[in-house]
Amino acid sequence: MNRTIKSCCSRWRRKAAGVFCAALAALAAGCGAAETEPPVLRVGVALYTQDDTFISTIAAELERMAREEEQERGMRINLSVVDGRSNQTTQLEQIDSLIGRGCDALCVNIVDRTAAAVLIDKARKADVPLIFFNRQPVAEDMLRWEHAYYVGAKAEEGGVLQGRLVLEAWQAGPALDRNGDGVLQYVMLEGEPGHQDAMLRTEYAVKTLTDAGVAVEKLASDTANWKRGQAMAKARQWLEEGMGDAIEVVFANNDDMALGAIDAFKQAEEDLPLVVGVDATAPALEAVAARELYGTVRNDGAGIARAMLDLVLALADGSDPAGAVELEDGHYVWLPYRAVTARDLEEKAP
Ligand code: BGC
Ligand code: CA
Repeated sequence: MNRTIKSCCSRWRRKAAGVFCAALAALAAGCGAAETEPPVLRVGVALYTQDDTFISTIAAELERMAREEEQERGMRINLSVVDGRSNQTTQLEQIDSLIGRGCDALCVNIVDRTAAAVLIDKARKADVPLIFFNRQPVAEDMLRWEHAYYVGAKAEEGGVLQGRLVLEAWQAGPALDRNGDGVLQYVMLEGEPGHQDAMLRTEYAVKTLTDAGVAVEKLASDTANWKRGQAMAKARQWLEEGMGDAIEVVFANNDDMALGAIDAFKQAEEDLPLVVGVDATAPALEAVAARELYGTVRNDGAGIARAMLDLVLALADGSDPAGAVELEDGHYVWLPYRAVTARDLEEKAP
């Protein structure tokens, strides 16, 4: 039977510090390594949905990094990944069950970011540190407990970088102004309503252009809920309405939607406008290399996974999390965004 940390101590901090101490104690007592099961750290990972390109890359990175840490630290890290299927009630039940089964830390990609207070109170009651990622709770909720953290990128920064990609292309010459009227005509494909990344990327992408003195005209905008298929359907509808020639730029809040727009233009055999996304997923980078997607903004999924694991391990070890990650205001770990165009890919290539 596995000796779990939970069985020796009741509170996670002591329990966690015990991970390493227990291993030493076993050795000191003369127990051979062969007889001693490695200590186990149990981490619950709740995803808003598994059916999301970017989120599934974070989950895969977390899994890969946990395996590496196991090797290095001689311990076991059990990740229990649950799929909230975009339903907050389902996710709360899943988290209740993870806590009930005695997890040592929770990483939560919350379905409804306004529902964080309930969750923080549950985690606090059970004394299980709670790391939110990618879907950011409102600031007041984060103050409810010292062991509530958020790991992610600053949404407005993603918007600014996306806006700058378009600004540079606009300033590079007249080609982007297809109809030569001195105004940049665009459409916007938005992520899920209410998501900080959808609201702020939309706002800051456009603001970056207008702040630089570019006159813009929004031809259409709609939500496609981060999804390639939905984005393709919206873009197809705009093309059917005859907007094809008029669209100079497609802003998409993420790469999947940018790719959906490209699908629609290709299917309709229309010339591709300048399309920009966010995330730098593998298929998006292929589209950048193929010169179909003008550019994207890398959303550091591996960095998010790394920071979460570092936080979990530090907390489990009973050490100060600020020593393991760069912690802002005691609660936030921010990962930087980075713009990517075909030029960047060429520079990187050997
Ligand atoms: C990503 C999207 C993803 C969403 C999910 C965003 O940060 O850019 O691709 O669908 O998070 O919450
Ligand atoms: Ca124009």
